[in-house]
Amino acid sequence: MKTLLRVGLLLTPLVLVGLIPISGIKAEESDAKALFEKRCALCHPTSRPLGKTKSSEEWEKTVKRMKGYAGERISDQDAKIITVYLAEIRGK
Ligand code: HEC
Repeated sequence: MKTLLRVGLLLTPLVLVGLIPISGIKAEESDAKALFEKRCALCHPTSRPLGKTKSSEEWEKTVKRMKGYAGERISDQDAKIITVYLAEIRGK
């Protein structure tokens, strides 16, 4: 009982002090990256988009066009996440 209490007291501040939000943000970023790497490497290497810099409007157009080629393999939700991700890492 005493040990349990001590472990609890040690862990609670760690969780409160931001391990949860930090891991949340990291998960979101790596989800977008993983999605991009999966969906956008179906027809050409990811170096194709990674070699470009575009405004978010331009990325939106490009991703829409790619979605048109890919059909059901890229969902609306995927397209949105990937557009935001590309505008973030390859924006101008
Ligand atoms: C179904 C196949 C297919 C998929 C999936 C695909 N692409 Fe493409 N991509 C193409 C083809 C074909 C071209 C060349 C013709 C063109 O540019 O429209 C191209 C060209 C490109 C280009 C260079 C032309 C430009 O507008 O700069 C970029 C960037 C690009 N793709 C990004 C992406 C991204 C981002 C994704 C993921 C959302 C993706 N592609 C998924 C087929 C695909």
